[in-house]
Amino acid sequence: MKTALITIGSTREYIDPVRYISNESSGQQGMALIKSLLKKNYRIVCLHGYLQTKLIISPKIKYVFTPNAKSMLAEAKKNSKVDLAIFNAAVADYGIQNYSKQKIKKKSALNLQLKKNPDILKIICSSKQKPKTTIGFAYETNDVFNNAKKKLKTKKCDYLILNFPVDSDPIFNSKYNNGGILNIKGDYIEIGKKTKTSFANQIIAHILK
Ligand code: CTP
Repeated sequence: MKTALITIGSTREYIDPVRYISNESSGQQGMALIKSLLKKNYRIVCLHGYLQTKLIISPKIKYVFTPNAKSMLAEAKKNSKVDLAIFNAAVADYGIQNYSKQKIKKKSALNLQLKKNPDILKIICSSKQKPKTTIGFAYETNDVFNNAKKKLKTKKCDYLILNFPVDSDPIFNSKYNNGGILNIKGDYIEIGKKTKTSFANQIIAHILK
């Protein structure tokens, strides 16, 4: 049986016990990818941040809750010996330097010191234990193709799924996704605006071809 690692959902970085910074991501696209991989008989480890979608329960899936970038990276390192790794999570790019154990009282202004989080995709793709095939995602709003091409190179993944808003649909929290697949040769395989289920099936079909 082939094995896959997938990161989905959004991570959070807490400012104090009740406040956090995070990214948009419902986890719907990630779940659709999991469904598609199950149909192809993969055994899956899913590292998930916060989700606004239901988990698919199957004996072939192991879920690990990784609420922040640090824990997601640690688990990704432990589970990177796989045939396929998909990095679909919206990881918060910055962590809080000055976390407060006590709830911060409201004042006229608040200064947050942010520190850059580890780039999980880049670290795993540059490691000796690199999964056989790696797929990153990129959500871009401007100069989408150039930004995605740069991202594919710097992150060293085999494929990059480019997503960008269309028809004033921001894509996240939507039934639809929009974009296509970029490979290391620089080819772009257009998928277009599709339901997240169909988008996932097209990615998996293309990668396994
Ligand atoms: N990613 C990751 N770890 C991070 C940031 C991103 O693993 N700390 C992964 C995402 O899961 C995705 C890819 O990198 O597969 C691109 O994420 P994106 O947020 O588009 O890119 P960034 O590197 O954060 O760049 P920017 O925000 O400047 O566009």
